[in-house]
Amino acid sequence: MSFAATVTAEDLDRDPDPILARLREEEPVAWVPALQMWFVTRWDDVQTMEDHPEIFSACTEPSFLARTLGENMLTLDPPACTRLQKACKPPFLRAGRSGSFAETELPALCDGLIESMREDGEADIIAGYAALVSAGSLATVLGLDAYDFREVWDWCEGLCAGVANFEQEPEAFAVGRRAADAVEAAVLARLDELRERPEACGLLHILQADQNLSAAEIVNNVRLMISGGINEPRDGIGLVVWTMLSDDGLRQQALGSPAAMRRLVDEVLRRYTPVGTITRTTTRETELGGVRLPEGVLVSGILRAANLDPARFRDPERLDPTRTEGGNAAFALGVHRCIGEWLGRQEIRIGAERLFRNLPGLRLHPEEKVTLRGFEFRGPKSVRVVWDA
Ligand code: HEM
Repeated sequence: MSFAATVTAEDLDRDPDPILARLREEEPVAWVPALQMWFVTRWDDVQTMEDHPEIFSACTEPSFLARTLGENMLTLDPPACTRLQKACKPPFLRAGRSGSFAETELPALCDGLIESMREDGEADIIAGYAALVSAGSLATVLGLDAYDFREVWDWCEGLCAGVANFEQEPEAFAVGRRAADAVEAAVLARLDELRERPEACGLLHILQADQNLSAAEIVNNVRLMISGGINEPRDGIGLVVWTMLSDDGLRQQALGSPAAMRRLVDEVLRRYTPVGTITRTTTRETELGGVRLPEGVLVSGILRAANLDPARFRDPERLDPTRTEGGNAAFALGVHRCIGEWLGRQEIRIGAERLFRNLPGLRLHPEEKVTLRGFEFRGPKSVRVVWDA
């Protein structure tokens, strides 16, 4: 029996790296019956998938993404996805709404949240801080900041329940549906306001970028941003803060300059790869890494395994912000590379920096043992910290 045939979803959820390391070594393109997918674990093969969207299509069947969010840029291939990406990406670049947001509003958002918890002397920074920094950032850049950031967080959780509903539980789909309806109502109401009274925000940019975008297209793609663009910076902040609290050398280096902090963020994202996979379907029979793949099968390009491939990164499990091997796959490598990458990086860097700047004596709670969970999306369940009152 092949090793891949013994892999279970629970084991991947708990501790994927040793499993992926063995697959990469022994069966780099392997059918995993427990997930009904082919797993691709070597850097070069994941890159090949990304280079050939005409063979490895994002238009998968089944697609929990399309079912919960409606058709969106990540369920389409070029050229259909291209016009959506062109309209939606600019607000998330430095030259767009995200640039001014990151300069002044983001540090202020972080400082306000820190002030509100300072007297407590302790917090779980995942739920109490990072989730709200992420929800608040996306909501503000889009122009949905009239909503309570906790409500925006709830939309994210609801959408994710539907998107990750591999067991096909009716209740999880219903939760996803309710969140999708709430986002639709919020976006449509805001678009009406912006048509009446334009105000600089991400939604206004998207509305004006392409007259041919329908309201449903805008709604579906905002749902995609909310389902993917909040969890990940949250996990990124948690991972970077945990790393800095666990290693004095890395912390001192990172707090030395913004450039050093940027390098640490990049390296932590490589090492832990919070978005672990890309899911595609073959449009025809093909060969990858010497293995024949039939037409119409699901193929998972494992970004986490590519980022820990020793053929690409020396001593890959070691955190080394001074690496020179080249870019990593944390934001993917192909036509669906993350549109929120620039903003996501600022949220993580500034979100972590402000904690260290404002909370003297910041350290892990003596009883905290940080554990990472998840396979497709992986991050710390909690990062409990204390500081000097
Ligand atoms: C640390 C933070 C983040 C990480 C690690 C991350 C990672 C990723 C990855 C790996 C993909 C590719 C998925 C695939 O090909 O199947 C992706 C796509 C995407 N991300 Fe992010 N992301 C982050 C933050 C954000 C933020 C802040 C936004 C807000 C807009 C966002 C919005 C999107 C969208 C809309 C796509 C789909 C792009 C397309 O289909 O062309 N992400 N992200």
